[in-house]
Order: sequence, then structure tokens, then C-alpha cells
Amino acid sequence: MIVFDKYNPWLAPLAGYSDLAMRLLCRQYGAKVCVTEMVSAKGIVYGGKNTRNLLKTSPDDKPLIVQLFGSEPHFLADALARIQDMGFEYFDINMGCSVPKVVKTGAGAAMLKSIDNLFACAEAVIKQSKQKTGFKIRLGYDMHKAVWQEIVPTLCQMDALYIVLHPRYARQLFTGKADWNALTELKELSTIPVIASGDLLSSEDALECIAQTKVDSVMFARGALSNPAIFQEYLARLNNEEVPKRDIEKERERQREREKRIEAGADQKLVFYCAEKLEISSVSVVVQIYQHLKPLNVQSRAVLAYVRKIHSRAKA
Ligand SMILES: Cc1cc2nc3c(=O)[nH]c(=O)nc-3n(C[C@H](O)[C@H](O)[C@H](O)COP(=O)(O)O)c2cc1C
Repeated sequence: MIVFDKYNPWLAPLAGYSDLAMRLLCRQYGAKVCVTEMVSAKGIVYGGKNTRNLLKTSPDDKPLIVQLFGSEPHFLADALARIQDMGFEYFDINMGCSVPKVVKTGAGAAMLKSIDNLFACAEAVIKQSKQKTGFKIRLGYDMHKAVWQEIVPTLCQMDALYIVLHPRYARQLFTGKADWNALTELKELSTIPVIASGDLLSSEDALECIAQTKVDSVMFARGALSNPAIFQEYLARLNNEEVPKRDIEKERERQREREKRIEAGADQKLVFYCAEKLEISSVSVVVQIYQHLKPLNVQSRAVLAYVRKIHSRAKA
């Protein structure tokens, strides 16, 4: 399966950062698998506007893993079913986030405090997704109270897709050092792919982590935030090739173009959405909407296709 070609570099879930624009940028530099920012399962079920924005994607944004957070099996499974209907295929459950807003709802790293509920959630999402869900965990919640050894065998038995371990305790947040020895132990224990996260701030760190721990792959987080070309550098070093030099000005220019395209796509969807919702079947009204949006770079071909569609509907 493409998601697990060994040593493929992943872009980590990064709340506030790993949106469509960043994912496309990182893919251009060689990120093979990207994970969305964490998305609230309840937000999906109740249909929040912000949630829709977090799920923005495009055909070249694949393979994509949608990360969900929540603490109730039925909400997680329901949310997953809804986004499956939207065409998403791979999922990740956040069991490592230590931000108070998430933890106080029993989600994120708080799941590590209630193992029975964690297993109930895992079972629900694995079943709903037909084994296409992975899990991102930390060592445990409280300092020196590791629970990952207790969790992993059951997740393997349940046929989870993979395990990502950020080997710190939730209470540590980002302090101290990531314990790569735990990754070595996890790799020995696990029968499913293991992805490393934690202190992979350069391409050299990632290769050193693979050499030390024998994990199946690595996930760049803060390393990709400060340097999206980290994927290119990592792949070059992995394949014993020369590390390409960066042209920052050219990169900025490409990123501006990409962001413009995404904005245009969003506006175009908005026209479709409004027209459908308001049951506008008049070509002239849609053309007027389009004229208003034209200065914003809306792509004409797609709008024309839509106009044609409602025109033929009106004739029928
Ligand atoms: C700004 C920021 C946002 C993050 N958001 C998420 C998130 O939404 N879901 C998640 O599982 N982890 C999240 N993380 C944790 C990272 O995915 C990663 O596990 C962590 O940063 C350790 O990797 P690093 O030391 O290489 O940065 C976030 C980290 C940062 C710095």
C-alpha cells in the first residue's frame, strides 16, 4: 500500500499549519503522506463552518490522512462515516495532543488515561473505516506512567493501520528530549508499521532516528514548519544523492501562486454551493455571480460547466 512504502517521509498533523497550502508545498518537496490538522469529530457531526475549512483538499493532495479528535466511540464513528461519504479514505485518531482545550474534553492525550474507552473508540473507528485508521500516541499522560506497551498489542490485534509514537509524556508538552529508545522497543513489539515523531528537526535527525530505532518511517513536524524543503533533503540523503540548494525567492513565488489557486477554488465552490442551496436555476443569475467573482480569479471552465448543467436542467 502506498501509505507504507518504507521510509516515505510524512508531514505531521500540525494544528494551525498543515492546511491544504502547506501540504501541497511539502508534497512538492517530496512529502509522500500528509496528515491534516486535527479535526473535531463533533464539529463534523454538527457541521461547523471551521470544520469544513479544515477538510479543504484537492486531487493532488493524496494520499491524505484526516486526523480526528474526540472521546466518544459513536461520535468518532459517525464523523468518520460522514467524511468517508465526502471521499476521504484514511484516518488517524489523535491520542497525543496535550492542549488543555482538547484534553479537558477527554480527547487527545487524555485518552491515554482511560484505556477501556480508548479501545472502544479504536474498535469503532477501525470497524467503520475498514482497517484504514492509524493512531498517534504519546508514551502516557503522567510523567513516568507509560501506557503505550499496554495499548499497542491490542491496536495491532485490531488491525490498526499504523502507530505513530511521539515519545514524550503528555505532561512534558515539548520539554526534555524525545525518548527514541521507546521507538526501538515499540518497533520490536509492533506487528503494524511504526512511524516516528519527536525531535526530527532536520533530515539528518530523521535518518539518525531510523538507523537507531529501525522504525518504518518518519514524520516531520516542527522541522517542516521551519523548512518545508526538509523532505527533499531527507530523500536526497536517504538515496545518497547530492542535497539540492534552495532558491527561497522562487519558493515564495510558487507558494503565492498556490495560495491564489486555492482561494479561487474556494470561491468557485461557494458559487456552486449558494446556487444549489438557493435553487437558482437561472443561467443569468449564475453568470452574474460569476462576473462578480471573476476579479477574484475564479476558474471559468468549471463555472461554465455548472452553467451548462443548470441550463440543461431548466430545459428538461
Ligand atoms: C504547532 C504544532 C501543532 C501540532 N498539532 C498537532 C495536531 O493537530 N495533532 C497531533 O497529533 N499532533 C500535533 N502536533 C504534534 C506534532 O505532530 C509532533 O508529534 C510533535 O511536534 C513532535 O515532533 P517534532 O519534535 O519533530 O516537532 C503539533 C505540534 C506543533 C508544533
